[in-house]
Amino acid sequence: MTSSDKPWGGRFTEPTKPTVETFTASIPFDWRLYRHDIAGSIAHCRALAEAKLISPAERDQIIQGLKAIESEIAAGRFPFSMQYEDIHMNVEHGLAERIGPVAGKLHTGRSRNDQVALDLRLYVREELDAIGDLLRGVQQALAHSASRHLDVILPGYTHLQRAQPVLLAHHLLAYYEMFQRDAERLRDARNRANRMPLGSGALAGTNYPINRELIAEYLDFPIVTKNSLDAVSDRDFVIESLSAFALIMMHLSRLAEELVLWSSAEFGFIELPDGFCTGSSMMPQKKNPDVPELIRGKTGRVYGSLVALLTTTKALPLAYNKDLQEDKEPLFDAVETVKACLAITAEMLPGLRVKIDTMAAAAADSLLLATEIADDLVTKGLPFREAHAVVGKLVRFCLESGRPLSGLSSEEYRRFSPLIDADLASRLTPEAAIARKTQIGGTAGEAVRQRLREITKGAGK
Ligand code: ARG
Repeated sequence: MTSSDKPWGGRFTEPTKPTVETFTASIPFDWRLYRHDIAGSIAHCRALAEAKLISPAERDQIIQGLKAIESEIAAGRFPFSMQYEDIHMNVEHGLAERIGPVAGKLHTGRSRNDQVALDLRLYVREELDAIGDLLRGVQQALAHSASRHLDVILPGYTHLQRAQPVLLAHHLLAYYEMFQRDAERLRDARNRANRMPLGSGALAGTNYPINRELIAEYLDFPIVTKNSLDAVSDRDFVIESLSAFALIMMHLSRLAEELVLWSSAEFGFIELPDGFCTGSSMMPQKKNPDVPELIRGKTGRVYGSLVALLTTTKALPLAYNKDLQEDKEPLFDAVETVKACLAITAEMLPGLRVKIDTMAAAAADSLLLATEIADDLVTKGLPFREAHAVVGKLVRFCLESGRPLSGLSSEEYRRFSPLIDADLASRLTPEAAIARKTQIGGTAGEAVRQRLREITKGAGK
């Protein structure tokens, strides 16, 4: 193909080098914007007709042609060509093949710069919604699992050292809260993606009386962009979305890490369903937690996409620059990765086998109740710092003598403080420690059940 066959070939005398055609083409990856590209073109075409820039008959001819191309692409029968660079010119060329020269009227008052900005916004908006739905699936799985394990106790950790007993339901719902914030972030990103850029032209706006607000209405955008230079060069909405995806992956990865740890022989808190694990080609006894490991691993990839886009955009002068074509592959890859990880997490969670007894045994270490004794002394009037010191000495005594914190006689306890109750030992249980934490956000069964009620009533904000 010579340059003069290209839509922009007029001012060229020499053909594009084939290596350059391959190097600059985005069709190998941006073909997947075809639905959005065609929806945008149909809206633009209708607005051209409204502005009397094309006749109603021409409008109908163009729209019919575009719809036929959409079906052809969906059926895998459309001959994409590197020579037409990207999805926009491939569709336009296909239209010309079908309906002849009238196809040439479609691009009136439009540039590929505002066209690609529109396509990408439509794509991002749709995927933010799809990811929001998948996220809700994971939240529901967590809430369901929490409601099935309301009596299960395990040690809560800080510094990965056993700290205080908590309910498994409380632990699971901690992830619910993380994903709730992610859902808010997706909605927030959607708001700013939801602005209609067409009519910005290549960079300066358009000479034609195209009704931008009408196009926005056709495509269900609440508002139009307010500055043409900004509209063709803005990729904030991609970066914001990627940043929301990165946080989703970070949360999924933390959950995955706990599943890997908990399914180890050292913890033995859970068993993952066989269908989500693989074996070793050499060691017959192995059952490996590949799915959570891969979720953890794929997190780096999504962070990579975010950093790639931040870097690509950091020194771009206004307005459109070809660098921006590099926005698509990281975005598409991140979208596919997040969706796959959310879907498989929602599928895996209901199959977890919780080893209640192992968890309970780990939580039964009475040292985890040291804070309870200190709090008890505070209720008797001892300042917390003094209470902390008393119990610290008690703990040291137990560690040195190999005695459990809950197993001393009342005389022995009183040696540390006369304020310690005679019946302390009988009240010193993980269940009692948990039951005392009834404040909103605490681990008491009462508080956790209240949160679950809010969640199932759809008020889990
Ligand atoms: N394929 C291009 C992209 O993805 C479309 C916009 C091209 N604009 C241009 N002036 N060459 O960014």
